[in-house]
Amino acid sequence: MKTVTSDVERVNRRNAELVLSGTLCKRSQCHTLCVGSGLVCFVSFVEMRYPLGHCCRMDTLEELLTCRLDFGAKAVEPCSIIIFGASGDLTARKLIPALYHLFIEKQLPDPFRIIGFARREKSEIAWREELYAALQQFSRTKPVDAAQWQTFSANVFYCQGDFSDTASYQKLEQQLAQFGHESLRRNLLFYLATSPSQFAEVVERLHKAELLHRHDDKAWWQRVVVEKPFGHDLPSARKLNSELTRFAHEKQIFRIDHYLGKETVQNILMFRFSNAIFEQLWGRQSVDHIQLTVSEKLGVGSRGSYYEETGALRDMVQNHLLQVLALVAMEPPVSLEAESIRDEKVKLLKSIRSLHPAQVPIHVVRSQYTAGEIDGNPRLGYRQEPKVSPDSNVETFVAMKLFVDNWRWSGVPFYLRTGKSLPLSASEVRVQFRPTPNVLFAAQCGPKLDANAITLRLQPNEGISLRFNGKIPGATMRLRPVRMHFSYNTEFGAYTPEAYERLLLEALSGDATLFLRSDEVETAWGVVDAIRTGWGSAPLSEREFYPAGTWGPAAADDLLAESGHAWRNPQPIT
Ligand SMILES: NC(=O)c1ccc[n+]([C@@H]2O[C@H](COP(=O)([O-])OP(=O)(O)OC[C@H]3O[C@@H](n4cnc5c(N)ncnc54)[C@H](OP(=O)(O)O)[C@@H]3O)[C@@H](O)[C@H]2O)c1
Repeated sequence: MKTVTSDVERVNRRNAELVLSGTLCKRSQCHTLCVGSGLVCFVSFVEMRYPLGHCCRMDTLEELLTCRLDFGAKAVEPCSIIIFGASGDLTARKLIPALYHLFIEKQLPDPFRIIGFARREKSEIAWREELYAALQQFSRTKPVDAAQWQTFSANVFYCQGDFSDTASYQKLEQQLAQFGHESLRRNLLFYLATSPSQFAEVVERLHKAELLHRHDDKAWWQRVVVEKPFGHDLPSARKLNSELTRFAHEKQIFRIDHYLGKETVQNILMFRFSNAIFEQLWGRQSVDHIQLTVSEKLGVGSRGSYYEETGALRDMVQNHLLQVLALVAMEPPVSLEAESIRDEKVKLLKSIRSLHPAQVPIHVVRSQYTAGEIDGNPRLGYRQEPKVSPDSNVETFVAMKLFVDNWRWSGVPFYLRTGKSLPLSASEVRVQFRPTPNVLFAAQCGPKLDANAITLRLQPNEGISLRFNGKIPGATMRLRPVRMHFSYNTEFGAYTPEAYERLLLEALSGDATLFLRSDEVETAWGVVDAIRTGWGSAPLSEREFYPAGTWGPAAADDLLAESGHAWRNPQPIT
C-alpha cells in the first residue's frame, strides 16, 4: 500500500509539473483511490500536446511516470520533400513506406508535398500506382488503409528529369511554385536516393537553380539528406564533403546511417547515461573486453556488383559497427544537443588506436564464404554468386581487435566482427566483465565459472540481458550462469518503426543528432583505410575462406584465443 501512495504522489507531482510546463491539452476528472484508510485523488489520464501539435492521451501510470525529452522539440513546419532517384529501390521499399506511416501517425506537417525526381518518363498517376503496389508489399502495417493512401498520395507528385539537365531543375522549381503556399516552396528537404557519384552534381545544380541556399536561415530552411555510402575512402569522403559544403552549410547536410535510426541503437545512450548502476562499471576497471557482432544470414544475392566494389569492411564496419562502438564507448556528452553528442562520438573514434600496415594481419581477419549450408539449404560460395568475379578477393567477413586509447578504455580489447552467410542474422554488443578473484567459487570452479556480461541485443528480438551465476536449487552446491532479460516486445509491445521513419522525421525537424557529421565520417574512414592499406592487393590465402553457415574462419577464433577470450555467438532468442 505504501508503494501505491508514493506512486500516486509522484503522479500528482509529475502532473503538476506537466500542467506548469503548459503542454497539457486536457485533463480528466479527479479519480479516487483507496489507500489504507484514506482516499487519494489522482488524475486518471491527461492529454499531452506533442511537439507536432496533436494531442495524445496518456492514461497509464507508466506513461505518467515517463519522462519525455522532446517537448522542447521544434514542430515540423510545412514543407516539400523532394526525392532524387524516385523510381529506385530505396524510394519504393523504404522512403515512401516511412513517409506514409509518418502521415498516418499525424507526424507529417500540414500541409506537405512530396515530389519524386527521376529520369524515367511516367505520369503522376502511374508513379502513385507503382508506389501503392510497393507499399502493399513493404509496409510494416498491413493491410494498407486505402482511404489513408488516397489522402496521402494526393500530396505526391512526379518530376521527370535528368540530374545533369538544367531545364529539369527549372521544371522542379515551377512545380514547387504551383503549390502556392510559401513554406511549400521554400522549406525544402532534398533526399538524395541516388548513386553516390551523383550527390555533388545534384547539390550544385540545386544551388545554381536557387532552390538550395547555403545558409542557416531562420525563416526558411533547405536541407540535404545524403544516403550511404559517403565516399569509398578518406580522400573521396573529404572530396565529397568539400563539394557539398560549397553549396550547402554543414548544418544543412544530413548524412544517413540507418543504424542510428534504430530504437535499440538510440537506447544505448539512455541505457548508459540514465542508469547509475551500469555507467559506474563501464570502463577498464570492470570490463574485460567488448564484443560487437553484426551477422547476416543472407549472402550477397543480387547485390554482387555493388559488393564487389565495397566488401564487408567498407559496407558495414566503416559506418554501422564504428557508430555502435562510438555509442557504446563514448564519454557522457555535456548536453543532449546534437553537437555535444557528435563531439563525443568523434573524440571516441579519434581515440581508436591506428593500425600500422604490419599490425593488420595480427589484429584483423578477413575472409570470404565458400559454398555451404544454412538451415539445411545449400548455399553458393561468394565467387559463384551473380555479378561476382570468379576469382574475387573481396572480403565477406571481417573480424578485428581494436583498442581505444583513452583514460576509460586503455588496455580493453574491442572485438568487432561482421559477415555474410553466417548461421544467424543478429546484431549485438556484449560487454564482458572481469572475472572474480580466483578465490572461493572461482577457485573451485575454474574456467567453468562464467564472468558476468551485459548483452545489448540490437536486432532482432531487441533487448538487454544480464548474465550472472546462480545456485541451482537443491541439496548440493551447484552453480551455473543464469540470465536476467529485458525484452522490448514484452515490455512495450511489438512496436518496431522503421529506422527511416525516425530519420526522416528528425531531418524534417532539423535535428542532426542521428546523422553523421563530416569529421565523424572522415575519422571512421581513417580507421578503415589503415586496414585496407595493410591488406594491400594481396589475394586471399587458403586460410581466408569459411563455409557458408559457419561463424567465419578459424583465424577469427584465434584472434581472441591468444588473449584468452572466445567469441560468444548470438543465440536465437525465443
Ligand atoms: N536500396 C537500398 O535498400 C539502399 C540501402 C541503403 C542505401 N542505399 C543507397 O541509396 C541510393 C539509391 O539506391 P537505390 O537502390 O534506390 O538505387 P536505384 O534503384 O539504382 O535507383 C537509382 C535512381 O536514380 C535515378 N537516376 C539515376 N541516374 C539519373 C539521372 N541521370 N537523372 C535522373 N535520375 C537518375 C534512377 O532513375 P531512373 O530509373 O528513372 O533512371 C533511379 O530512380 C544509393 O546511394 C544506395 O547506395 C540504398
